[in-house]
Amino acid sequence: MSSDEPTRVSSRIAGFYKKTVSQRLELLRATDLLSPDSVSALQAGGGLDVAAADTMTENVVSTFGLPLSVALNFRINQRDYIVPMAVEEPSVVAAASNAARLVRIGGGFRAEWTAPIMTAQIQLDAVPDIDAATAAVAAHRDELLALGDRAIPRMVARGGGCRDVEMRVLDESEGVAVVQLYVDVGDAMGANMVDTVAEAVAPRIAELTGGDMGLRILTNLPLRRTVTVRATLDASALGGDQLADGIARASRFASLDPLRAATHNKGIMNGIDAAAIATGQDWRAIEAGAHAFAALEGQYRPLATWTRTADGIEGAMTLPLAVGIVGGSTRVHPGVRAALELLAVDEAGELGGVLAAVGLASNLAALRALAGEGIQRGHMKLHNRRLAAQASAADETAEGNR
Ligand code: MEV
Repeated sequence: MSSDEPTRVSSRIAGFYKKTVSQRLELLRATDLLSPDSVSALQAGGGLDVAAADTMTENVVSTFGLPLSVALNFRINQRDYIVPMAVEEPSVVAAASNAARLVRIGGGFRAEWTAPIMTAQIQLDAVPDIDAATAAVAAHRDELLALGDRAIPRMVARGGGCRDVEMRVLDESEGVAVVQLYVDVGDAMGANMVDTVAEAVAPRIAELTGGDMGLRILTNLPLRRTVTVRATLDASALGGDQLADGIARASRFASLDPLRAATHNKGIMNGIDAAAIATGQDWRAIEAGAHAFAALEGQYRPLATWTRTADGIEGAMTLPLAVGIVGGSTRVHPGVRAALELLAVDEAGELGGVLAAVGLASNLAALRALAGEGIQRGHMKLHNRRLAAQASAADETAEGNR
């Protein structure tokens, strides 16, 4: 699936970084994407009040802030996005915005995503006859799917529900296996729904297979819920053939060396996590899925790869992304609500496409800097600007305290 609706806002806002915080907020307000409540929430700090926080987790004593920024220039499937990012690390937002500007020259990112299929796992031990058990699960497929659906009637009413079941044998000699149910969770992240299905169906599966029932829980490696994003850039947009070569060489280095791949992927997650946090996603789940996917072939690999084309480079990345636009903190966190309004995605998969594009942009920015002048020069420029701003804020405070 992919969205090919034309763009509704422009994510190119010249000089945005030079404005004051309130001027930037005014520019966002002018897009008409934000509700009046969200504008007020962002003006008030974008955060969560303590009373709402107290309904979310346990032993709450306060709330905890992070800078909320927006990355600009993103165009994905011909649609512009102003991307909210919550991150404490300097340069991440500027780098993503800069790379998105370069990708935009060649038409923007292309993203596609699967249906929102999460995977439930039911562990079985001491299955007496693995072949008979596999056959029994297959023969009772419709019954098992219907049993799972009965546990999540509201999801089924919204068009989701159980889609498939399979048994994987993990250790034949000891009768260890796992039965997996594949569940369409619609626009939710879906963890609770999938856990509900696993628990509802597990006793029947134990009965059918004769195995001892073990864990009943989702996997955070949802291989049937993935996003693929691509970008093609001309060498001239990158700054020349040498940089195009350098990016392709950097990608090959990461493919050959897990130690480099870890840093390469960390740079990708700089963008994905920041946008995930701003939009209220379970970023631990996203991280777990991304790294497990990177290691799926037995060697830890780069999630994104860049290859040289006749004119420049082409980047591609596929990863599992369990993200939702309903439920969870989207209901209670005003900053998250504002972030989702700003993105205005129509479905959870589209949000996955945005997150993946931000990840690929972050990777491109890092590799371009590393292949060229090195990461520190741009980093230190921003750092020094920040120090100057902090010093002048401190001076003003000292002035005010006099
Ligand atoms: C720093 O947060 C991320 C980088 O190290 C990523 C990379 O090396 O590709 C710059």
